Amino acid sequence: MSADKSIIAKPFLKWAGGKTQLIEEIKNNLPLNITNDTFTFIEPFVGGGAVFFWMMENFPNIQNAVINDINTDLTDCYITIQQNVEELIEVLDTFQTEYHDIFQNIEKSKEYYYTKRDLFNSRESDRLVQSALFVFLNKTCFNGLYRVNSKNKFNVPIGRSKSLPKICDQENLLLVSEVLQRTTILNGDYAETLRFVDNNAFFYFDPPYKPLSETSSFNSYAKDVFDDAQQIRLKEFCNTIDNLGYQWMLSNSDMKNVNPEDNFFDDLYQDFNIFRVYAKRTINSKAKKRGNITELLITNL
Ligand SMILES: C[S@@+](CC[C@H](N)C(=O)[O-])C[C@H]1O[C@@H](n2cnc3c(N)ncnc32)[C@H](O)[C@@H]1O
Repeated sequence: MSADKSIIAKPFLKWAGGKTQLIEEIKNNLPLNITNDTFTFIEPFVGGGAVFFWMMENFPNIQNAVINDINTDLTDCYITIQQNVEELIEVLDTFQTEYHDIFQNIEKSKEYYYTKRDLFNSRESDRLVQSALFVFLNKTCFNGLYRVNSKNKFNVPIGRSKSLPKICDQENLLLVSEVLQRTTILNGDYAETLRFVDNNAFFYFDPPYKPLSETSSFNSYAKDVFDDAQQIRLKEFCNTIDNLGYQWMLSNSDMKNVNPEDNFFDDLYQDFNIFRVYAKRTINSKAKKRGNITELLITNL
């Protein structure tokens, strides 16, 4: 199997906080020298990787990339696509055929989904099958959410789309696999990425956002919470890489959307450049409150 070069790799999962909406703004605020020199691209909170795939496509001068996430299920999936994409496609293709065959029968599709979810949560399968189960659950669960309980058990219920869900996107998986051949995949805390940097590097940070309100958004992608103390620790890490002479960009929520007096990020990042950019996001779950709100893009460039 080989990938069609005319089509570009895109995220293979739906992931909370996906940055597709923000790419235009990110593009407008990139460092000026980014198209000239070769460099290492580092994304310490990669999630679904919307920015990573976009960068890899648009900057042929990226020598190599480093991606990291604390979520092992997620990084294992990236590793499987890097190393075993053809076997993964075979397993996903089987899941897809089986699921499509019973899709019209609600009882049977529920039984199929929850059996796969139990199998995933038993964590008895090898990395290949765990990754296939992870992709399957992401494509068929409610809203493509990822949520685990305190025992790291995935607990999102089945989703109900009208049309047959595409579970095995062979073409994209092959393209993703090609991009990952130039990529080091890490699993752990973001600070570990520093050990993989050489002389010319650009970091893009997309940490779990600080919630705009108690009820607004859940930011527990993993078992660990990312609270204010973590936001402050991340800023200290940004200082470190600034002092080492690397360039970085970071996105986060703009607290001023809900409270104009809230200077948490303005104070924290006062030594750097803070841009407010528009993003199509939801402030809370009520549809009427949906609309354009601002987000922060912060750089040391
Ligand atoms: C906002 S999401 C990233 C969204 C992503 N850039 C996209 O476009 O889909 C934040 C990610 O940070 C990860 N994360 C949380 N705490 C972390 C930590 N201490 N170190 C590394 N990754 C962490 C979460 O698992 C989650 O995938």
